[in-house]
Amino acid sequence: MKSLISQDALDQLFYQAHSFNQFTDQPVSDEQIVQLYELLKWGPTSMNTQPARYLFIQSTEAKERLLPAMLASNVEKTRHAPLTVIVASDSEFYEHLPTQFKAYDAAPMFRENKELAKATAFRNGSLQGAYLMIAARALGLDCGAMSGFDPEKVNATFFPEGRWKVNFIVNLGYGVDGGHHPRGERLAFDQVARVL
Ligand SMILES: Cc1cc2nc3c(=O)[nH]c(=O)nc-3n(C[C@H](O)[C@H](O)[C@H](O)COP(=O)(O)O)c2cc1C
Repeated sequence: MKSLISQDALDQLFYQAHSFNQFTDQPVSDEQIVQLYELLKWGPTSMNTQPARYLFIQSTEAKERLLPAMLASNVEKTRHAPLTVIVASDSEFYEHLPTQFKAYDAAPMFRENKELAKATAFRNGSLQGAYLMIAARALGLDCGAMSGFDPEKVNATFFPEGRWKVNFIVNLGYGVDGGHHPRGERLAFDQVARVL
């Protein structure tokens, strides 16, 4: 029997979770990186396609290669974040379907329809990026997502083979107290939802 998770857990995941621009120096360990994936991987994707790929930028050398692709306002926060994740999508994700989706051979459906493959990679890769952020918060980490960067530069620098393509980028670590913008409003239920 499942139960509602605690108010503390809801606060950590949602009510008190902010997008951070400043992080402490406390590193994110290799064990935490694996733990992060071991949690987020259980989030659902259509036909279990799991198109997202994750490039964890930890070293100063790799960070220096990323910074020229970032929008000016995202450079310093990315430089100082202990860990930055490039959330990418595998444009040929369907090659893993024989082991990941055993109901029938679904790979040809995507292999022969590039538009369907692209839409599926984007939809599910974005979902998995969101699972990554929620999983990070569940592990006590803070994050700050970014779409302000030059995707062509990121792809040319990190994915020159062309199969993986960046979707968005997330800084991870332990947020500095107040190292985020004031909470923005959220649209009210009536503005965004209809119940039929
Ligand atoms: C996919 C995505 C891309 C974002 N891109 C940027 C960005 O490039 N630069 C930035 O400062 N914030 C970026 N943000 C942060 C949002 O502005 C922030 O999440 C939003 O204003 C809500 O703030 P809150 O999470 O602190 O409540 C991005 C967030 C998401 C989810």
